[in-house]
Amino acid sequence: MSDVALGIDIGGSGIKAALVDVANGALVAERVRLDTPQPATPTAIAETVAEVVRSVRAAEPDLVPTAFGATFPAVVQGGVTMSAANVDDAWIGDAAEARLREAIGERVHLLNDADAAGLAEVGFGAARHVRGVVLVLTLGTGVGSALFVDGVLVPNTEFGHLEFRGHAPVERWVSDRARREEGLSWKHWTKRLDTYLRYLAGLFSPDLIVLGGGVSKRFDDKIAPRLDVGVPVTAAALRNEAGIVGAAWQAHRMR
Ligand code: BGC
Repeated sequence: MSDVALGIDIGGSGIKAALVDVANGALVAERVRLDTPQPATPTAIAETVAEVVRSVRAAEPDLVPTAFGATFPAVVQGGVTMSAANVDDAWIGDAAEARLREAIGERVHLLNDADAAGLAEVGFGAARHVRGVVLVLTLGTGVGSALFVDGVLVPNTEFGHLEFRGHAPVERWVSDRARREEGLSWKHWTKRLDTYLRYLAGLFSPDLIVLGGGVSKRFDDKIAPRLDVGVPVTAAALRNEAGIVGAAWQAHRMR
């Protein structure tokens, strides 16, 4: 059997983890999920991460992970979380990677959640074998972005935090949360998304745009028919598991 790594996806509502076969990006055992503690302070999150990791390992004692990766919805530089758009402000400037390492007793590789989801799409999903410039966007509570050039990640791009048409950050206008909270029709929301995608396409001339996050389930019926971006746009292939798979795969590659 090929190497197995443990991926942890830390989000605003849940903390999920699973063992991943790094040769094909498949989960090799059940995923474990616990609610994100509130307030989502660094200490509380680290404790919940440790609990989730213990459950994953206890369920498969014979599968020993060779690497541990974790995602976080913020800019992550050198293991430090540098922003906190939809999480507790105490994360700004936190040595989060070292904190998680201490909590689980293993070396952990920490990266931005959208970067992890993008890596999973590049390695095993919708952008596999795609050369050139690929832009992956995750549309959920916020808008995450991951930019690739010939499969190499440009980390922490944060295109959800651009100012666009007076909306700063643009994620408050174009995220799935904005669609739900403003009660927008799919037609109205997709029009917003289309203008935003055309703007990004104008800046980066991507060869492919991949859309992930909860809304990707509605890509075929509600979104794709209403987009006119001028470059290929497709739905993410890994859906719910992209963060876990990307974190595990990147930790394996960086070990
Ligand atoms: C955060 C990003 C994150 C995105 C999706 C944004 O608010 O700034 O770091 O990738 O939400 O979770």
